[in-house]
Amino acid sequence: MKLIYNIGLLVGIQPEGVLRLEGPAQGQTGTLENAWLAIENGRIKAFGPMSSLDVTPGPGQESLDACGGMLMPGFCDSHTHVVYAGSRDGEFLDKINGLSYEEIAARGGGILNSSDLLHATSEDELYKQSMVRVQEVMEKGTVALEIKSGYGLNPEDELKMLRVIRRIRETVPAAVKSTFLGAHAVGRGYSHEAYVQAVIDMIPQAAEYADFVDVFCDEGFFTVEDTERILSAAKGLLTPKIHANELAVSGGVQVGVKHGALSVDHLERTTDAEIEALRGSDTMPTMLPGSSFFLGLPYGRAKDYLKAGLGVALASDYNPGSSPCGDMRFVMAQGCIKMRLTPVEAFNAVTLNSAYAMGLSHELGSVTVGKKAGLILTHPGWNLTKIAYHYQTPFLREVFF
Ligand code: NIG
Ligand code: FE
Repeated sequence: MKLIYNIGLLVGIQPEGVLRLEGPAQGQTGTLENAWLAIENGRIKAFGPMSSLDVTPGPGQESLDACGGMLMPGFCDSHTHVVYAGSRDGEFLDKINGLSYEEIAARGGGILNSSDLLHATSEDELYKQSMVRVQEVMEKGTVALEIKSGYGLNPEDELKMLRVIRRIRETVPAAVKSTFLGAHAVGRGYSHEAYVQAVIDMIPQAAEYADFVDVFCDEGFFTVEDTERILSAAKGLLTPKIHANELAVSGGVQVGVKHGALSVDHLERTTDAEIEALRGSDTMPTMLPGSSFFLGLPYGRAKDYLKAGLGVALASDYNPGSSPCGDMRFVMAQGCIKMRLTPVEAFNAVTLNSAYAMGLSHELGSVTVGKKAGLILTHPGWNLTKIAYHYQTPFLREVFF
C-alpha cells in the first residue's frame, strides 16, 4: 500500500457512479484540505482528512509526504492523433503565409501528406516516433488517451496504425483507447465513392483492434450520407465518436447523436440546433481549443452548452495539422481564457467528462474509492485556478498511473 499524506488540497472527489458532469454540476467538485490518500494495487483504496489518519506512516509502508501539494485526477485526453510519421513543419510556413487548413489540404498537404509519410515508414519506426509523443504527454500529466488511425487511408496502412496503437496500449502505463478513423480523408488512388466503400469493408477487421469508429464529417471531407453509411456498417461492432463542425456546420452532430455516438468532437461552428440535438442524449460534446488556437478558428460555445444543461469535455486533438500540442494543462487554460469556463468547469472537462468521452469514466477521471489511481501531485501551493492562470509555470511533481 502507498500512502500519500500532507496533501494540501485533494480535488476531483466524486461519489461512485458519477460518470459525467452536466450543467451546473460541471462547476462543482469535491474538495478536501489537508488530506491523505491510500493506493493499493494501482487503485484508490481510501482517503480522508489528516485529522482522521491514525496510522503514522512508518517502515514497511510506502509513504510519500505531499508537502502541501495538490493531488488531482490526471488528465484524460479523449481525442488525439499521436500516431503519425515524420513532421508537417513544412506546411507551417504555408500556414503562416496565410493558407487555410482547407487550402493546404487541397494542395496535397495536410492529411494526405501524413498518409504518404506513414506509408513510407516501417511499423517499428512508427511505433518509436509515436511513443516519443505518448511519453511526452504522460510526463505532462495525461493518464488516459484515445488514439485514432486515419493516416493510413488504405487497408494495409490503416491496420498498421491500429497495430501500433495496440502496441502502445500494451506498453504504457496510461490507459489507451483506439479509434478507427478510416474516413479521415479519401485515400490516394480512390474515388470518393470507392473509398467510402473501402472504409465500410475495413470495419470488421478494424473492429478486432479498435474500440470506436470515427468519421471526419465536414465540408470537403465526408458527408452526412457517407457518415450514415459508415456508422450503419459499424453498428454493433464499434461505437461512434465523430469529427463534426470544425470547418462548417456539417450535420455531423445530428448523425452522431442518431447513431448513439459517445462523443461529437470539434464543434468550432455550431448553431442552437446542435445544442438541441444533444439534449437528453448520451453523447458528450467535446471541444478542442488547441485546433481553434492553431488554425485561428472560433472557440466552441462551451458556456452555451453548459447553460443548456449539457456537459462539455475538452481534449487536445494532438496531431500534425491542426493541433501540434498535447498539453492538457494548456487545453484547460484555453478553456478558461478563451471559452470562459471557470477553472473547475475546465478541470472537469479535462478529467471526468473527457474520461466519459472515451468510455473510461467508471475507471478514471475522479478521486473515487475503487477507481484507478491515475493522479497528479503538484508542488506545494497550487490549486485549480493557479494551474490554468500561470499556465506555463512548472507545477507537476509526480504523475501516478
Ligand atoms: O482533428 N479534422 C480532422 N483531423 C484532424 C487534423 C488532422 C491533420 O490535419 O492531420 C483534426 O483537426
Ligand atoms: Fe481530430
